[in-house]
Amino acid sequence: MSAKSMNITLHVWRQKDGKSEGRFVSYDAKDISPEMSFLEMLDVVNERLTAKGEDPIAFDHDCREGICGMCGMMINGVPHGPRKATTACQLHMRSFKDGDQITIEPWRASTFPVLKDLIVSRDAFDTIISAGGFISVSTGSAPDGNAIPIRKEDADMAMDAAACIGCGACVAACPNASAMLFTSAKVSHLGLLPQGQPERDERVLKMVAAMDEAGFGSCTNHGECEAACPKEISVDNIARMNREYLRATLAAGRRAVRTGDSSAG
Ligand code: SF4
Ligand code: FES
Repeated sequence: MSAKSMNITLHVWRQKDGKSEGRFVSYDAKDISPEMSFLEMLDVVNERLTAKGEDPIAFDHDCREGICGMCGMMINGVPHGPRKATTACQLHMRSFKDGDQITIEPWRASTFPVLKDLIVSRDAFDTIISAGGFISVSTGSAPDGNAIPIRKEDADMAMDAAACIGCGACVAACPNASAMLFTSAKVSHLGLLPQGQPERDERVLKMVAAMDEAGFGSCTNHGECEAACPKEISVDNIARMNREYLRATLAAGRRAVRTGDSSAG
């Protein structure tokens, strides 16, 4: 072992597939550089497992730059691990000490079923996005962005909401497995901009309906989602979505009264 390297013990959730029972298996991760990312450390452990003919630990990842949202996992009981505003792929082993024991689990939420080991299905997020996470656009050349004036405050809030990478840490951290932070980020991101106005009411109604239908729990203001979010999405977005939802519901009700449609709203 070089002077700087570390010996770590991992306790990893192993589960063959969604139908099999899972269990923790312990592995020695020896001679690990503190400069390695957490996923590089898992790569090293997997290379050693593969060399011994054992099944490597399945984990999801893509960009390894904190932008795709694929790498979510519970590290010592905390979504994405101990560093604030940091995805698992951007976490480095220098955040741990030589001799540490690290427990690694998949997201725990019935709406995110385990596919294998640390990999869960986040298809439920896709159903929410496809319910309203889009704007209607005219085809043709792109309009000049600066031709549409947007209040600086709105642009900043929309940009902050757009930082959501859909990782699911908010759901995993919430005692109710609520997806309110994720859904509200998507509602705010488009609803605050002029381009998002045509579908504004329909968007919030449909995305909230899709969220409920997928089986996510309700928000009871624990705030664990904001604390766990690697992109520091604010719970202010949840308050905004609740206001948007009420406004859209009332507007649909008024339209129903005008048109005599008793099924609307
Ligand atoms: S709100 Fe934050 S924690 Fe939730 S999916 Fe988006 S980036 Fe991940
Ligand atoms: S692998 Fe893309 S955010 Fe971690």
